[in-house]
Amino acid sequence: MGQILTRCAWFAVLAVGVGAGGSRSDAAPAPASVYTAARRCATCHQTIHTYWSESEHSRSATSKAFLAALGAAVEAAPDKDAARRGCVWCHAPTALATGDYALEAPITREGVSCDFCHTVADVDLYKPGHPFDLQPGKVKRGPLEYAKAPFHETAYSVLHKSSPLLCAACHEHQNALGVPVLSTYSEWKAGPYPARGQTCQECHMPLVPGAIVKGGLQSTQRRINLHRLQGGSAASRLQGGLELRISGLDVSAASADVQVVVTNTGVGHAAPGGLSSKSLVLAVGVEAGSGELLHRRERAYRRELKDAEGHSLVSVADMFQKAVSVGEDTRLQQKEARTERFTVPLPEGWKAIVARLEYRDASDPAAGPKTTLVTEERRERGR
Ligand code: HEC
Ligand code: HEC
Ligand code: HEC
Ligand code: HEC
Ligand code: HEC
Repeated sequence: MGQILTRCAWFAVLAVGVGAGGSRSDAAPAPASVYTAARRCATCHQTIHTYWSESEHSRSATSKAFLAALGAAVEAAPDKDAARRGCVWCHAPTALATGDYALEAPITREGVSCDFCHTVADVDLYKPGHPFDLQPGKVKRGPLEYAKAPFHETAYSVLHKSSPLLCAACHEHQNALGVPVLSTYSEWKAGPYPARGQTCQECHMPLVPGAIVKGGLQSTQRRINLHRLQGGSAASRLQGGLELRISGLDVSAASADVQVVVTNTGVGHAAPGGLSSKSLVLAVGVEAGSGELLHRRERAYRRELKDAEGHSLVSVADMFQKAVSVGEDTRLQQKEARTERFTVPLPEGWKAIVARLEYRDASDPAAGPKTTLVTEERRERGR
């Protein structure tokens, strides 16, 4: 029974889709069913679904951090509906077509969902309102030139295969005061990677072994684009893009002069990327018996956003709503190698001099800053 009902729902969705050409994007709110649930796609694209489920995109409308910040943003704004829409269109973009800015329907709560991305026909960053040409419906757009699918039509799409604009639509954003709160795309564009043809997809969605469709369905290739889309939230991703080296060490009886080089070897934009609630911290110190880092000295790499009084903003909601200017930006630009010098006092019986690179995410004030060790280099005493 349940099986039959969901089947009918699936066909109903397709039927809606058939007639849904043209300008769905600017039309009056349509029923939530113009988009199909991710678990439906999963009946065939199982492996891709598993990876997507592990991605931040699948949690963008339901993460505690987002819901708390959304609440704060709505609370602080004179026009509550506008404030809500201003956050939700990007974190739960199906709302643009369904009008469900209250995040009530399950499809809305899927966040940046399969059917949203794969029915975007074009992106224009300069279009008034939102940047998407939305075409929810039967045609799923993707990177395969000769794909044939039983339950939906397919269309080859350069936007999906290799254009950074699909990502820029959400990863580049000026707030109402004209401040670039998110500038990942323009940073990428200003660096060496566009000339090499390395777009967002190449680094964040590499080809990995896996079946596009499970079971007996025909597939034109045996590799899939990784849909886990990790950034700073994954240590492995950070390690692939950043390097740390102790390049000079001068040890005297009471102290050590330590020279450290931190390099952005493989991050396609400034590091750390994304929101200003993220920072990298280089820490140098000395280990004695306990294994604890003593005399810890730090340098932080981050981009500051400031409010009208010149205060550095810490909450994400404030960054979107109150930033009037960009303050200091000490992040590591693409391929940049930064040399830092520290003097560390050496306690009796010290064992090792240690340099650590940490990634710190302070997006969720309730949880407090989350620190991940990126990499560490040590020099043991007497070596
Ligand atoms: C009944 C099985 C089935 C279901 C359900 C299904 N697909 Fe597909 N899909 C396929 C097959 C088969 C292909 C072709 C694969 C190939 O050629 O390698 C495909 C191809 C695609 C492509 C590639 C298109 C291109 O031209 O590059 C995309 C994107 C896609 N599907 C998205 C989706 C999304 C999003 C959903 C859910 C809304 C979905 N699919 C549901 C079977 C299915
Ligand atoms: C953030 C947007 C986005 C979301 C969300 C997303 N995809 Fe994709 N998908 C892409 C892009 C971009 C490509 C092509 C990447 C490339 O060619 O480098 C792609 C490729 C594909 C392909 C073609 C095969 C392949 O791996 O290249 C299929 C099928 C597909 N996606 C299905 C899905 C399904 C099913 C979901 C949800 C479980 C999903 N996608 C979620 C952007 C997205
Ligand atoms: C519809 C808007 C939208 C689109 C399109 C989109 N993203 Fe995202 N992306 C988000 C949001 C919102 C988050 C943050 C989710 C969260 O943490 O709550 C995010 C998170 C991410 C993260 C994880 C960051 C971390 O902290 O680890 C990466 C990486 C990423 N996106 C890359 C991409 C790439 C690459 C593309 C293009 C193929 C893309 N995104 C397309 C909205 C989007
Ligand atoms: C040359 C490879 C490369 C390219 C190209 C690239 N990135 Fe990244 N990106 C990385 C690495 C490595 C990280 C992890 C380090 C970090 O977080 O800064 C990352 C991190 C991120 C993050 C998470 C930021 C954070 O610190 O939480 C987002 C979001 C992101 N990238 C989006 C994009 C978008 C959008 C594009 C295209 C405009 C893009 N990236 C192009 C390699 C790349
Ligand atoms: C243009 C798209 C866009 C808009 C509009 C937007 N966000 Fe985001 N948001 C993102 C992206 C992309 C990320 C991930 C960036 C990164 O990796 O640093 C993000 C990350 C976040 C995070 C961190 C999420 C986590 O799980 O750690 C919070 C909190 C957040 N946004 C809240 C808001 C609030 C509140 C608003 C409205 C005032 C808003 N966002 C408006 C795109 C957007």
